[in-house]
Amino acid sequence: MEKTSVTIEGGHELNGVIDVFGAKNAVLPILSSTIMLDGETTLLNIPPIGDINSMVRMLNSLNIRTEYRAGGSIHILNQKKIRHIAPYELVTAMRASFFVAGPLLAKTGFAKVPLPGGCSIGLRPVDIHIQGLKKLGVDINFEHGFVEFSALNLKGDAIDLPFPSVGATENIMMAACLAKGETVINNAAREPEVVDLANFLIKAGAVIEGHGTSSIFVQGVQSLMGVRDYFVIPDRIEIGTLLIAGGITGGCVEIKHVHSSYLSSITDVLDEAGLIISYDNNNVRCSANGSIHPVDITTEPHPGFPTDMQAQMMALLSIACGKSVIKETIFENRFMHVNELVRMGASIQVDGQIAIVSGGKLSGADVKITDLRAGAALVLAGLIAEGKTVVHGLHHLNRGYFNLMGKLKSLGARLDL
Ligand code: EPZ
Repeated sequence: MEKTSVTIEGGHELNGVIDVFGAKNAVLPILSSTIMLDGETTLLNIPPIGDINSMVRMLNSLNIRTEYRAGGSIHILNQKKIRHIAPYELVTAMRASFFVAGPLLAKTGFAKVPLPGGCSIGLRPVDIHIQGLKKLGVDINFEHGFVEFSALNLKGDAIDLPFPSVGATENIMMAACLAKGETVINNAAREPEVVDLANFLIKAGAVIEGHGTSSIFVQGVQSLMGVRDYFVIPDRIEIGTLLIAGGITGGCVEIKHVHSSYLSSITDVLDEAGLIISYDNNNVRCSANGSIHPVDITTEPHPGFPTDMQAQMMALLSIACGKSVIKETIFENRFMHVNELVRMGASIQVDGQIAIVSGGKLSGADVKITDLRAGAALVLAGLIAEGKTVVHGLHHLNRGYFNLMGKLKSLGARLDL
């Protein structure tokens, strides 16, 4: 029976060396792209977390045999006739399921996907996805809460994204792989997870250039083949969360096998906050160094500071020796963790998309998780708060972090599930 809450005793240093699994936000689009690949694919370094389980169920519902194998791998066998209707209950369970639209279109010429709902952090529209796919010659019809896509022959085109949407870039890039001719995606998302998806597709036979820059070029091909043993990039958001766990408790945490080039947008800010960041080989280490300094942060598309680290940074800055200004520019409602941090004694004023954090002391309290990254922030706050903190709603955390409590405990956290 999955535990719904954890009791954390604050004030204990976290020290040690730990590994992380593959990035949730790389695994999800890579899994959906296997709809386009003929034959067998094996993905390695996969965390068995809620959102990935949802995507595994989604692929199986589309008649693509997908299963976890020992040692954190997933095996996909795509050989039968694919269904092109994505079940409502799976898309509403995880909005990233909308990423199956592009691959389904490219592979079958049809896709029927429920409009994903919003979530606690925002409305999460998919208009940029829709506009981009239309440019590839897709006919789109909205009916009964579903989006019906049809394209008997996808053709490449130049697509200018109004915003570097991660999901829209991925959906359009996947569809373009099997379109006729060349597609250029301008103002494309540059996130490392987009790059990892492109690298995976290239191994499957796709012709893609410019991934990681604002202009991605895709030359359509006839077909794509399964990929053996693809090792997904480590999860930079989990890495950032664990580094803060070391820094906020006055300890020293080292993460093995990371890609330093992907992490600098996070570790540069930790460095500015007074933590000592050091890289050697493929490991990154974060050590506390006296008090935490206040830092002004604006969340931005990569290579800016990631919105998925905003809540965790707010927890750290809640104990800084001064005032920090945090501006959230990506999602319209991503300050749900503020009220819970305030219940722990944090001094935070919110005015629209700006939160002003005046550092001080935190005290343990009962707090409730509203969304994945807010949950991580509350756990981090509990590690340093005086006394006991009971964090309720762990199921939100389990969507995106595998065994986070076990990892924290192995680093010295005192917690009871
Ligand atoms: C991806 O979501 C990530 N999820 C999010 O991580 C991450 O926060 C986000 O990118 C930004 O980096 C996955 O990769 C599965 P967007 P996505 O399209 O693709 C607006 C987590 O905690 N927008 O870049 O949905 C949108 O409303 C999750 O792991 C439109 O207006 O993000 C938002 O305000 C949370 N129309 C902004 O763009 C569209 O068609 C960024 O969205 C698409 C997006």
